Amino acid sequence: MFSVNFSMLLRTLLFCSSASLVSAASADMPEILPNATDSQKDTFYFPPNCDLKPAFKGYSINHLSLVTSNLTRAITFYEEVIGLQHIFTYNASPKYHIAYLGHNTPGFTSCEEITQRKNEIKGLVEFIYLEGATNSPLPTMKKPNTYSHFGLIVPDVKVAEGRVAEWGGRVIKKAGEELDVTNNELGNAYGLGVEAIGALDDEELKAIVEAFKDARTGAIQSAFVADPDGNLIEIQPPVFE
Ligand SMILES: *[C@@H]1O[C@H](CO)[C@@H](O)[C@H](O)[C@H]1NC(C)=O
Ligand SMILES: *[C@@H]1O[C@H](CO)[C@@H](O)[C@H](O)[C@H]1NC(C)=O
Repeated sequence: MFSVNFSMLLRTLLFCSSASLVSAASADMPEILPNATDSQKDTFYFPPNCDLKPAFKGYSINHLSLVTSNLTRAITFYEEVIGLQHIFTYNASPKYHIAYLGHNTPGFTSCEEITQRKNEIKGLVEFIYLEGATNSPLPTMKKPNTYSHFGLIVPDVKVAEGRVAEWGGRVIKKAGEELDVTNNELGNAYGLGVEAIGALDDEELKAIVEAFKDARTGAIQSAFVADPDGNLIEIQPPVFE
């Protein structure tokens, strides 16, 4: 079995030394890394045109929504550990609740005002909670599902992962540590859980494992933590060194 470093995907693919899994070579390939070997360059595919689409001016992603099995616990964690601000809870019925949290909401004087103008803000997180639900929603690390994780940028990854640990939360992989892909929790969240990889031969699995390693430094700067529901959060620095 393999012992794995999961790193920031872009960077690891840049430095990946294994065979190309993703793309075909293109004459239009920009010189993204002057020192990259041909096989490293081939790992990326860039569409020939990355222009903005004028017909979609004004479109943006405003919020990510999660079903939680305990709204109080989710709000506490995301406020105290991740630093989001609880903006409102909408009680659609006595048992059905919808809450919004957000970062980066300067210039507002009250939660009511943020709520009124929430569609001007990006990066909000919504929680949906049915009290006494008769099933327990399975989080991304428990069961492979279509949701993987979201990525947080913080000034200091160590400080951020430290807050999770102090709060009593789970740090799945510390910054700079290795992570075993056979730890099925991360595998589930990355579409590589044991239920998913039946059709992969050992060689390809090994290549995927290699693709997540930072072949240059071996130091994986992202931390991976779990929220109280068992969903994965990746914590990245503003710049990978
Ligand atoms: C990349 O190539 C340049 C010369 O083109 C060389 O000066 C530099 O040291 C190389 N960097 C690495 C990391 O190999
Ligand atoms: C929700 O979590 C809190 C701890 O944050 C706990 O006190 C409470 O009992 C939990 N509620 C349910 C319904 O499990």
